[in-house]
Amino acid sequence: MLNGIYIHIPFCLNKCNYCDFLSFKSTVEEREKYVTALIEEINMYPKFSLNTVYFGGGTPSLLTPEQVSRILSNLNISENAEITLEVNPKTVNLEKFKSFRKSGINRVSIGIQSFDSENLKTLGRMHSSAEGEEAFFLARKAGFENISLDLMFSLPNQSLENLKFDLKKLFSLKPEHFSIYSLIWEEGTEFFTKLEKGEYKETDNDLEASMYEVIIEEAEKQGYIQYEISNFCLPGKRALHNTKYWKNEEYLGVGLGASGYYNDIRYKNDLTFPEYYGKISNGIKPIFEEEFVSPDEKEVYEYILGLRVIPDGIFPKGKSLSLCETLVEKGFLIKKNANNYTLSKKGILMANDVFSEFI
Ligand SMILES: C[S@@+](CC[C@H](N)C(=O)[O-])C[C@H]1O[C@@H](n2cnc3c(N)ncnc32)[C@H](O)[C@@H]1O
Ligand code: SF4
Repeated sequence: MLNGIYIHIPFCLNKCNYCDFLSFKSTVEEREKYVTALIEEINMYPKFSLNTVYFGGGTPSLLTPEQVSRILSNLNISENAEITLEVNPKTVNLEKFKSFRKSGINRVSIGIQSFDSENLKTLGRMHSSAEGEEAFFLARKAGFENISLDLMFSLPNQSLENLKFDLKKLFSLKPEHFSIYSLIWEEGTEFFTKLEKGEYKETDNDLEASMYEVIIEEAEKQGYIQYEISNFCLPGKRALHNTKYWKNEEYLGVGLGASGYYNDIRYKNDLTFPEYYGKISNGIKPIFEEEFVSPDEKEVYEYILGLRVIPDGIFPKGKSLSLCETLVEKGFLIKKNANNYTLSKKGILMANDVFSEFI
């Protein structure tokens, strides 16, 4: 039974140089108009009993705690649900964190990206390294016991030493969870333009692989479990909402450009405000694209997403079983028991190649 919801907040203070997420600068009035429409959209769906709620963006922490509270009051949230809000350090202070906590948010995911001032400047972040760290301490002080930090690596001109500096700082804070993504050069971003002009160059493959290996090794030394390709947690602190995506479970997606998976249909919401508001004001769900997922496709999704959850892996059937056996022989998978396969260390490093074998 569907029990998770993703809520997209498409607003940011500024566009970071590497990011192509759907987000825009906004006024107080525009954010209020959006929240009203969002609540109307939420009320177009049945009142599922939810055990995970995820405010993603964009920058959800640009909303007021009152707006977050209003959105939450339109949901049917079960006891002990995980309720996450993505936070940009530049948008918060102690009072705001406390009010978010009071509104029901019990997990924050803070966009740190790097603790190095030069990196932050290159990335076009609006906060300093000290402000990133401060956001973590303020969240703790406000009572958040489940904090995730987002970082990136393989940045322009980044050395292995520079990454080690970020990791040292990260582990000194001891967040319950962290995500660390290798930079993706997204078309249409400042970074991509600079790449095309030759001002930046992509990180050498060997260096990127060494960086990833260092992350995995250091995380393990510090007691973190790599439970997904880019996600690490202390025992018992997996991100419950995101894990639903990797387990191919259904979830609602609401808000501009949000994706959802409901009644065997993967859907994507409208990407422009006029279309989004237009449909909602006519009482229509703001969906522009739907794809029925056949049982065969569902199985493929289950394998390629499921393998991402490294400790759990997959339970293949039919011809995928013999593919898994071949991948074990090649050293990409480990057979944990009779019919349970997980990524090996080599498989983790070459995960995309392994996944493509299933398509
Ligand atoms: C929606 S943002 C997180 C919250 C908030 N917007 C912030 O940045 O502080 C999600 C995360 O995706 C990652 N990300 C965004 N663009 C990326 C890219 N081009 N390559 C790798 N990671 C990226 C960043 O780590 C970012 O924190
Ligand atoms: S990384 Fe976060 S703050 Fe920066 S533009 Fe993307 S969504 Fe906005």
